[in-house]
Amino acid sequence: MKYFKCRYCMKRFLPRIFLSLLLSAALLCTSCSHKVADGTNAAAEKEASDQANAAGGSSKLCIRGDIIFTPSSVAFEVHEDSWLVVNNGVVEGIYSELPEGFSGEDCSIVDTEGALIIPGFSDLHVHAPQYPQIGMGMDEELLGWLNNYTFDTESAFADTAYAEEIYTAFVDDLASCGTTRSLIFGTIHKDSDEVLVDLLAKKGLGAYVGKVNMDSNSSEALTEATEASLADTEEFIQYVKSLNNPLIQPVITPRFVPSCSAELMQGIGELAAKYDVPVQSHLNENLDEIVWVNELFPEYEYYYQVYEAFGLFGQETTAMAHCIHLTDEEAKALAESGVYAVHCPLSNLNLSSGLMRLRRLMDQGAALALGSDVGAGSTLFMPQVIASTIQVSKMVAKEYPEEEKLNLSEALWLATKSGGSFFGNVGSFEKGYDADALVIETPEYIAEKSVEERLEWFIYDGTREDIKQVYVAGQKVE
Ligand code: GUN
Ligand code: FE
Repeated sequence: MKYFKCRYCMKRFLPRIFLSLLLSAALLCTSCSHKVADGTNAAAEKEASDQANAAGGSSKLCIRGDIIFTPSSVAFEVHEDSWLVVNNGVVEGIYSELPEGFSGEDCSIVDTEGALIIPGFSDLHVHAPQYPQIGMGMDEELLGWLNNYTFDTESAFADTAYAEEIYTAFVDDLASCGTTRSLIFGTIHKDSDEVLVDLLAKKGLGAYVGKVNMDSNSSEALTEATEASLADTEEFIQYVKSLNNPLIQPVITPRFVPSCSAELMQGIGELAAKYDVPVQSHLNENLDEIVWVNELFPEYEYYYQVYEAFGLFGQETTAMAHCIHLTDEEAKALAESGVYAVHCPLSNLNLSSGLMRLRRLMDQGAALALGSDVGAGSTLFMPQVIASTIQVSKMVAKEYPEEEKLNLSEALWLATKSGGSFFGNVGSFEKGYDADALVIETPEYIAEKSVEERLEWFIYDGTREDIKQVYVAGQKVE
């Protein structure tokens, strides 16, 4: 005789065939009398019901598996075969048995025993319009890559129909990669940026999106008039805010200093303050770029001081991608500013930009995060960014022996809790954190390994296909 497990009260029971037959072959739990499944297709119905509930049918959610996360950078917290319990999108706690009040009809039970449960990833630097050029133009360094390749790719987003096609694929891929939060560059084209925002909102992902500002030193097709750039930026901010979706926010996005006149930076700095909007850009990525910034703004000693002069460096919450070539003085100023330094190792390798000394910034208490930097980065899949963060740190440690290489808990922490803090209480399973979670299946042949080892397998050898379910603030992403 086959036992069934009730998803409401979690008790095992033998079906009463007679009663079940009377009630259209439905299986009723003998303890709580809930209909559990049709006798014919129990697993399929349970799956369908789990999905319907998790998509918004109830405010309570319990996910079972081997739970692992990083409340701090120094160590993992592991709960083998436990329940991640969520109330109204927020983590209630982790329990070895389902707690009272979390077994009724208003609770979605996701019994993925044996799966890994980890926080969703935060990608703090990604260019959505560069999605169609991933893996292309990689023989260039930054300035050649922009001028000879990337500006043309981005010009095509003047067409909103094209934007809809590419951004649909981008958003789907982001979700299947388990990137529950991201900080995104759009293009200068406000209408296409709004298409991107709508698609992210529809998908249920968390994202801060920037309409890019560029009025200088670009191709003709990708150069805005200063006034129009400011007006479109303000309209974009108002549009995103009008959606009233707490997961989606606008972000002020000067491309980098060479793309912006002083007047434009002054204007967008004022908009950031007026609307209390965060800021993102690039900083100290490439040696030629740094020399050029110094030629354009010789009155400032350091690159970051140009942003700072216009209210774009820490006056609002700020993220700066790369931060590779820093003097000790600049590293200290960056750490003290609270500005997020976003490490993008795949991009830095692809464009030969350099090896970022992440440990130096970490030791000084800088705010840190990881970014895919697609399309200079060659994948949206954050596990590869995590692995290459560790790999690059090993090379840096050879050059600077006092700067210790990173380990796996530190790298996961960067991609979850540390990066997630840009968005609020995100990236951990501590009580009160937004329930962004990934359900990951690992192969049968490593089932006997420790939870930490199975996580390490996923980071180095896992793929999108291993991520079976994605939740953002307790809602399942389909
Ligand atoms: N600096 C200015 N624009 C870009 C860009 O699109 N990608 C990278 N990696 N660096 C930049
Ligand atoms: Fe970038």
